[in-house]
Amino acid sequence: MTKRTSPIIVGNWKTTPANLNQAIKFIKAIDKKYSSKKNKMPKKGFYLAVPEIFISEISKECVHGYVGSQNVSGVSIGQTTGTTIPSQLLSAGATFTLIGHSEVRAQGETADQRSHKVALSLQSKLLTILCVGEHKRDKEGKYLSELEEDVRKSLSLVSRNNFNNLIIAYEPVWAIGGDTPATTHECFEVVIAIRRALASLVGIDYAKKVHVLYGGTVTKENALSFIQEGGVDGLLIGRASQDVVSFMEIISSCYGA
Ligand code: PGA
Repeated sequence: MTKRTSPIIVGNWKTTPANLNQAIKFIKAIDKKYSSKKNKMPKKGFYLAVPEIFISEISKECVHGYVGSQNVSGVSIGQTTGTTIPSQLLSAGATFTLIGHSEVRAQGETADQRSHKVALSLQSKLLTILCVGEHKRDKEGKYLSELEEDVRKSLSLVSRNNFNNLIIAYEPVWAIGGDTPATTHECFEVVIAIRRALASLVGIDYAKKVHVLYGGTVTKENALSFIQEGGVDGLLIGRASQDVVSFMEIISSCYGA
C-alpha cells in the first residue's frame, strides 16, 4: 500500500473548550510548542475540528494547523433553519469538515442526509473526513460488509473527480471515549475493507490514494503504532487533542520529532 509522506493528525474538540478565550489560549500554546520543533515538521502539521462558532477567530490565530468543523449541512443555500453550509464554513476560514461522526449519527443523522452532506462538501472543495465504524463486532465478520456498505452509500452521490479531497476515518464506536482502542490488527483489516469499498466505486488506483485515519482512544502511547502497523495515514483524536501537552506529544511522536 502506498505510504504517505506526512501523517494527518486531526483533533476533535467536540464541545470543548467552554469559551473563545480558552480556545485562543490553546491555539497560541500549541503553535508555540510546534514552532520549537518546526524544523522537523511541515509548516502546518495538524488539523483541529472545533466548535463552529470558534472557526473564524481560531483560523485567524492558528499558524501551524488547519481549522475545520465537526459537521456540515447537506442542503444548499435556502430556507433551512439551524444548519451551516460548506460555503459559509469556507468563508469563515474552515478548510475541512468531519461528516458522519458517531455522535452526530446518534443524534439521528440518516444515511441519506450523510450522502448529501459528503457530496455537497466535496463539491464545495472542503476537505471532507467521512467517519465510519461499527458499534460492535460479530464473529462472522458481518460488520465488515456493513462498513463497506456504509462507505458505498455515503459516497453514492460523489462524482469521481471529487474523490481527491476525501479522507475516511475508521472509528469503531466501541473504542470512542473509553479506555480500549482497537488493536492495530483490527484496524488493519478494516482499512482493507474500506479500500475494497472505495475500489468498487472508483477503481483500485483511486482507492489507494484516499487517506484513511484511525480514531478511538488514541493516546501518545499508541498513536504511532496505528500508523506503523495499523495501515492508516493518520489519526482522529478526541480527548487527547483537548489538552495542549498530550496533543503536541502525539503530533511529535507521529513526526518522529
Ligand atoms: P476519543 O474520541 O479519542 O476521545 O476516543 C475520538 C472521537 O470521537 O473522534
